[in-house]
Amino acid sequence: LNIIKVNSEQQFNETGAAIIASLLQTNPKANLGLATGSTPVGVYKRLIDLYNEGLISFKDAHSYNLDEYIGLPDNHPESYRRFMNEKLFDHIDIKLQNTHVPSGNAENLEQAAHDYNRLLDHAGSIDLQLLGLGHNGHIGFNEPAEELQGPTHIVTLDEVTRNANARFFNSIDEVPTHAITMGIGSILKAKQILLMAKGADKAEILATSLKGPITTKCPASFLQAHANVVVLVDQAAGRLL
Ligand code: F6R
Repeated sequence: LNIIKVNSEQQFNETGAAIIASLLQTNPKANLGLATGSTPVGVYKRLIDLYNEGLISFKDAHSYNLDEYIGLPDNHPESYRRFMNEKLFDHIDIKLQNTHVPSGNAENLEQAAHDYNRLLDHAGSIDLQLLGLGHNGHIGFNEPAEELQGPTHIVTLDEVTRNANARFFNSIDEVPTHAITMGIGSILKAKQILLMAKGADKAEILATSLKGPITTKCPASFLQAHANVVVLVDQAAGRLL
């Protein structure tokens, strides 16, 4: 594990964006594994700046998002498809048809999960997978459980997760109960992983994930088994590392 501890929000965003930018500069056709949530938003903003400055282009890149809520229409303000369009895709030169977010409102969700797996298989490998960290140790929406699944699948969201994400909805009742997510297997197949965590509320689960036992009770602990993980943290989240 390569841990980068930064001193400010600005450094966090610049460092995260620089890692993605240098990949695009050396491999313009890169397959990017993207995440939503609040953690990467500033990194995406910085990437848009780098694009506007002419330093990077996404025109030959492909993107694959980790997850999507089930039951929200694509244009719902909290759907991850809309999040990605608004926070990144609409502001850069990526071709929309090269951007992929699992479908959370397909009639046959099992089929949608299967199709997303096939898409990932066809893509070859993800060159860089971005990850945030849930308060319960989830990555993507792989929640703590007795068993974890390798491929993309449908999950029931933990109450911890629904409560954490309720801040984006009018009330907890509006937060979807299920999601579709890349599995731990798909995530670990990425050539490189960038795990990002900010804020004091992530310190404990981050330390447990990176220094505790590898267990399905903390899905992020499986990152310890990957050969090329960069962990980007601010001082508060990195306090116990
Ligand atoms: C988002 C995702 C989630 C988040 C995690 C942290 O696509 O897969 O695992 O990364 O819930 O969310 P934030 O960044 O909002 O703290």
